[in-house]
Amino acid sequence: MEELSALILAAGKGTRMKSDLVKVLHPLAGQPMICWPVAAARQAGASRLILVVGHQHDKLHDFLSGDKKIDFAIQSEQLGTGHAVACADQLLQGLGGSILILCGDVPLIRPETLRGMLKSHEESGATITVLTTSLENPYGYGRVVKHDGSKVLRIVEEKDASPDEKRITEINSGIYSVKADFLLDAVRNLDNNNAQGEYYLTDIIKTAVQNGNLCISHMVSDPEEVMGVNDRCQLATAAAVMRRRINETLMLSGVSLIDPATAYIDKDVVIGSDTVIHPNVQITGTTIIGARCTIEPSVMIADCRLGDDVTIKSGSVMTDSIIHNGTAVGPMAHLRPGTELGEHVKIGNFVETKKVVIGNGSKASHLTYLGDATIGENVNIGCGTITCNYDGVKKHRTVIEDDVFVGSDVQFVAPVIIGRNSLIAAGTTVTEDIPPDSLAIARTPQVNKIGWKLKKR
Ligand code: UD1
Ligand code: CA
Repeated sequence: MEELSALILAAGKGTRMKSDLVKVLHPLAGQPMICWPVAAARQAGASRLILVVGHQHDKLHDFLSGDKKIDFAIQSEQLGTGHAVACADQLLQGLGGSILILCGDVPLIRPETLRGMLKSHEESGATITVLTTSLENPYGYGRVVKHDGSKVLRIVEEKDASPDEKRITEINSGIYSVKADFLLDAVRNLDNNNAQGEYYLTDIIKTAVQNGNLCISHMVSDPEEVMGVNDRCQLATAAAVMRRRINETLMLSGVSLIDPATAYIDKDVVIGSDTVIHPNVQITGTTIIGARCTIEPSVMIADCRLGDDVTIKSGSVMTDSIIHNGTAVGPMAHLRPGTELGEHVKIGNFVETKKVVIGNGSKASHLTYLGDATIGENVNIGCGTITCNYDGVKKHRTVIEDDVFVGSDVQFVAPVIIGRNSLIAAGTTVTEDIPPDSLAIARTPQVNKIGWKLKKR
């Protein structure tokens, strides 16, 4: 394939979003909208990316600055799509091959579709190829005016169109492939003599045709792909389409989704086969889930790594945690960042963990807070156990070695170390280290005052 660069137009504010945040940074299926066309351009083969930014360009720049292959051109006043391209002139200079032009607010375009368009573009030798689709209701879009049913003559905007032109159903998606050596001169020579007083990028087609160059259209059969996002209703529609695609890919790879409509799974999440995802589940970020896991209803998992045969029961929330094979969590457990659970661990209801490593076969079945602790293998943590890890100034660690049995309602006033195979009696407040194989008990002996209640009367 010939040299390919991509230019993504994203200078508009997105007034109809009614937001303080620029439109293309609104999240769509777990990523800011702009990430989708950027990824599509790259997957279609663009080696170099130029983003035309205007509103909140600093925010966009900060967000994408990790990506060294993106260059930014600033359009400080939005005078039209043609003007936007002209603002990138310094970056466009000297580029060969073709320029793929995309819009930051058309996020559903598939890389395969772009590759198809680029193929038509190359094979036909066209100067401009426009990606188009046919709409029952083309209102608002630029209409594609053709000669002989194939060659594109020009594109006319809704506001400039004659009644006859308004009846054309083939519309401009705003996505093009343009020969690099033609583009720059063409946008520099645009005028704004039209109903909106804007420099229309679409007018470069007229110029090309007048100079005897070929312009063609490449039709995409699924109009969904070229849907523009202008308001929050369309944002939600686009997000639903994107989620459906992600979910279909997962299902075809062997993951069961009981109700795909309520499975909210980010694009980069990896899930092994025969894992079952129940309704109302959100799995985000860099999460990786192994095979044969069960994720019960109303679970949230963010940036976690789960092994095989893991069960996460209803209502659990977990962030930035690692869970090894065969472990069960929940219902209603909260694993906070830095939690690592070994194999065949059991974390039960109303248990909260944070910066805790728990060894294989250990259990904390009910009502517990474990923070800043290292817990060995086959440890039993009784109901109501609490690590008192914070003295108001600093955090301290609790270490519990293998085979320790912690009775119910025990507090560990950290820092403390509990030696292996010890037993801690229920109700004990542990303030000192416990040697291995010991019994620790710290509670006031019980006094029964016989008949006390009768005398009180
Ligand atoms: C444009 C096309 C129209 C097409 C439609 C598809 C023109 C003249 N018209 O119209 O034929 O059917 O897209 O959605 O191109 N932008 C800038 N700077 C500007 C103006 C726009 O960066 O000065 C960016 C916007 O942020 C957006 C994209 O260009 O990402 C399209 O702009 P928009 O105003 O939505 O174009 P339309 O008027 O819808
Ligand atoms: Ca416009």
